[in-house]
Amino acid sequence: MFNEELGDPFIIIHSISLLKAEEHSIAILILRIEKEELDMKGSGFYVSLEWVTISKKNKDGKKYEITKRDILRGKSVPNYAAIEPNGNGLMIVSYKSFKFVQVDQDLEENMNEDMSEKIQVEPLYYWQQTEDDLTVTVRLPENSVKEDVHVQFLPDHINIMLRDCQLLKGKLYSSIDHESSTWIIKENNSLEIFLIKKNEGLTWPELVVGDKQGELIRDSAQCAAIAERLMHLTSEELNPNPDKEKPPCNAQELEECDIFFEESSSLCRFDGSTLKTTHVVNLGSNQYLFSVVVDPKEMPCFCLRHDVDALLWQPHSSKQDDMWEHIATFNALGYVQASKRDKKFFACAPNYSYAALCECLRRVFIYRQPTPMSTVLYNRKEGRHVGQVAKQQVASLETNDPILGFQATNERLFVLTTKNLFLIKVNTEN
Ligand SMILES: *[C@@H]1O[C@H](CO)[C@@H](O)[C@H](O)[C@H]1NC(C)=O
Repeated sequence: MFNEELGDPFIIIHSISLLKAEEHSIAILILRIEKEELDMKGSGFYVSLEWVTISKKNKDGKKYEITKRDILRGKSVPNYAAIEPNGNGLMIVSYKSFKFVQVDQDLEENMNEDMSEKIQVEPLYYWQQTEDDLTVTVRLPENSVKEDVHVQFLPDHINIMLRDCQLLKGKLYSSIDHESSTWIIKENNSLEIFLIKKNEGLTWPELVVGDKQGELIRDSAQCAAIAERLMHLTSEELNPNPDKEKPPCNAQELEECDIFFEESSSLCRFDGSTLKTTHVVNLGSNQYLFSVVVDPKEMPCFCLRHDVDALLWQPHSSKQDDMWEHIATFNALGYVQASKRDKKFFACAPNYSYAALCECLRRVFIYRQPTPMSTVLYNRKEGRHVGQVAKQQVASLETNDPILGFQATNERLFVLTTKNLFLIKVNTEN
């Protein structure tokens, strides 16, 4: 029903099927590693995620055709990438950020775009901030004197004039103490304006509402502070309320401070129509472990390490204020898996009754959820009654062939090697 060349070799990392207003669509997420033609620094390769939708109207008996095609690029292979069940968005867990790039653009255009990025016009002004104040620096024409400049401070407006020319005028992002705000002309022909914040500690995302002529300068201390703030906000809870009055992470901030996040990954949600990032959650030390489909009507879940435990999170794209639900916990799994240096694949049963991992060769470890004990058992050291026991088991495959695939169902584990498919019965069928 559909047959079309899609270019370089790829793997499919996720796909969904959906029916909307008599139209059947299949959305596929394909991954490629591509050579970087223009940028010679770094590894020389980038990761491309292509989101292709093919559709067919039910009435006309025509073939399926490509109705949407978008490409994201990043610098690391994502841990997790999935399309939302309604086909409206995408979620990615990765070490490096991903961005949509334009498709159907030939190399020439590509180069032009690159050039224009490099020969950027200098911003009209630079600004920086601390907890209490803002400093705005404006470059002035040579030999400007005090009399040429007029700055008007109002509680929440600013107006900067140079002779008869208006440099900047508008509503400030937040209120200032207009009576304590000052300006001076520096020797290097720059105008420096100090604004005192009314709301101490409030971080301003922009200086003048809607004005794009300035550039925010962040110093490294501030970057670190932002990073810390993000960590704090995301380590306890997985940003359950991203849209509330305190948007914990702003995609822009993350990009600016990229360097601080090298060791940790982020969870990003992209909107399919605007192609913009709508949510960014820094996962900090919550290492990604594996993903699993629990409910085929929902997106795959992802399992993260939270201290010694491992927690399973179910994304709900449609629930704006409850986008990530914690649905299961594997006690101590975060801890025990860390010692398995040779682990290759990780999985869990869709009903969470066990988690399992395998090494490159032979060994499969099964971690069962605690079950109530039928006999009475005492912890010898502490003398207390043990009500539940979590069993761990090791299966050793009778082969030395490398393990190539690993899938868990509620009853069985499927282990694929180069020559065999092994079935390990974990739970007995009812
Ligand atoms: C999970 O499924 C297995 C096999 O059907 C069953 O034996 C087990 O009781 C189930 N566990 C839970 C927690 O539902």
